[in-house]
Amino acid sequence: MSWISDALTSSIGRKLSMSLTGLFLVSFLFVHLSGNFLLFKADNGDAFNLYSHFMSTAGIIRVLEIVLVAGFGLHIYTAIVLTRKNAAARPVEYVANGSNKKVTWFSKNMGLSGSIVLVFLLLHLQNFYWRYHNWDIPMVEIDGKEYKDMYFLVASVFKNEWWVNPVYLLGLLLLGFHLQHGFASAFNTLGLEHKKYSPIISRIGNLISVLIPLGFATMPLYFWLFN
Ligand code: HEM
Repeated sequence: MSWISDALTSSIGRKLSMSLTGLFLVSFLFVHLSGNFLLFKADNGDAFNLYSHFMSTAGIIRVLEIVLVAGFGLHIYTAIVLTRKNAAARPVEYVANGSNKKVTWFSKNMGLSGSIVLVFLLLHLQNFYWRYHNWDIPMVEIDGKEYKDMYFLVASVFKNEWWVNPVYLLGLLLLGFHLQHGFASAFNTLGLEHKKYSPIISRIGNLISVLIPLGFATMPLYFWLFN
């Protein structure tokens, strides 16, 4: 079985693993964003609270959580290994010669944008995941049953702990840049080069990189500024 571990730890194997875990994490972002839009339903947060209760108690979600943590772990670990290998293989920085227009500041600094997104994520998990499971947050009654009021928690963090909002907005901005370059390099690595379809795929990637962070940004902005 050593050919499997050889393939996985080869440079192309690692790039493949970066791309596939990255695309998997984007699919999580889609699901997370769609569920969070329930925050805007005009029902005092009932639908969002039922959704949060399901996300925190359903067995299938516990299993998916392990897959998600593994996905994040592999993505970050592979990024560190690849960055170190690249640095060792190229101790002297390239001199920009203007011929490679695709090299932007963000494409060269995926590690930096990824690290800032990770800091945002740790703050975010403390804000909502940790508090939901470990704090005595208020209860709410829905159809005769008691649930933890996650809607209240989200609203009060964005409203009362206002300083988290700039951190969230910065994290989301960098998430956008990270996604934009990540999409481009994932499709490159997967070899999905096609004269007709590549420009379309690249445009869809750009659009998603703007829409996902913008969609999430509406949430802190809504509670901070309009509530
Ligand atoms: C800014 C708007 C966001 C809001 C209002 C929000 C809200 C929440 C809430 C309430 C939870 C607790 C569990 C749940 O109900 O699902 C949660 C968990 C989580 N969030 Fe977010 N989130 C936001 C953005 C993000 C972003 C941009 C990421 C990733 C970069 C992210 C990653 C996660 C992860 C990994 C979890 C734990 C896994 C889970 O329980 O589903 N969230 N979020």
